[in-house]
Amino acid sequence: MTISGIFPKARMRRLRGSETMRRLVEETSLRAGNLIYPLFVAHGKNLKREIDTMPGQFHFSVDRLVEEAAAVKDLGIPAILLFGLPESKDAKASGAWAEDGIVQRAARAVKDQVKGLLVITDVCLCGYTDHGHCGVIRDRDVDNDATLDLLARTALSQVRAGADMVAPSDMMDGRIGAIRTALDEEGFIQTPILSYAAKYASSFYGPFREAADSAPRFGDRRSYQMDPPNVLEAIREVELDIGEGADIVMVKPAMPYLDVIRRIRERFSVPVAAYQVSGEYSMIVAAAERGWIDRPRAIMESLLAIRRAGAGIILTYFAKEAAGLMAR
Ligand code: PBG
Repeated sequence: MTISGIFPKARMRRLRGSETMRRLVEETSLRAGNLIYPLFVAHGKNLKREIDTMPGQFHFSVDRLVEEAAAVKDLGIPAILLFGLPESKDAKASGAWAEDGIVQRAARAVKDQVKGLLVITDVCLCGYTDHGHCGVIRDRDVDNDATLDLLARTALSQVRAGADMVAPSDMMDGRIGAIRTALDEEGFIQTPILSYAAKYASSFYGPFREAADSAPRFGDRRSYQMDPPNVLEAIREVELDIGEGADIVMVKPAMPYLDVIRRIRERFSVPVAAYQVSGEYSMIVAAAERGWIDRPRAIMESLLAIRRAGAGIILTYFAKEAAGLMAR
């Protein structure tokens, strides 16, 4: 590349003079069509209960979830991601794979009543086990291979209930292959898998664990989720997941891991998603509540940064608000 027109011929400010000019030269864009909205579904009727640690986000009963899903669709957001709060928990996470589990019921209702909205379901056991870990426990550690069967069952029951795509977030080795095989054997060869491929053991999930009541009762998730210093390992995780049949790969969290998003975008040819997680959401909400940052600008800047890093798809609790801001 050659340097043309050094100062004063070159003046970078010429293209920054007006909003219209800035939009003309913008390099990254964000549309509602890039966003996925995570939602929490709980038992009960006519329930819309605000989550303490995530102001502006709610637990919905199935009836109220359907209303919310319709509103999401009307904003031009193509997909929701469902997390469930079961009525009871046990050692083998029965609520996760029950045919009439809370997520299965929600998926059926939304698919039935809101046409044209994609329903993605989170595949994990942590919200359904009495110990709060993402798999079956043996000798105080998560037994990888014993967990695969339950994850496959969970995914299958969700797809049977109508889920358009499943999103495994457990970080067990081999789970994409196990889920792919289970779906294919039942004839669901066209149902894609969105893999939480590079999911880090992050402090930024704090608010979510209260929202989903999924905090581990002992220990932590560092024996299965990724160690924050590593990026080559993320590449390997993605490589393995694609090999096992992942259709879309995700990096999570998003903003503290923009470099990981970029590396994966450049290296692989599958769609890349990034999850702006609960802690990223609640930090912006809390700082804006105190008047320390401008909420709409911080939201749009954070989402654009994630797009600029290379994520085609963003999962964000700000999806509705951002779609509203874009429409202005
Ligand atoms: C379940 C799961 C978690 C999140 C998504 N799926 C929590 C965790 O791994 O502890 C986090 C989402 C968020 O923080 O917004 N395994």
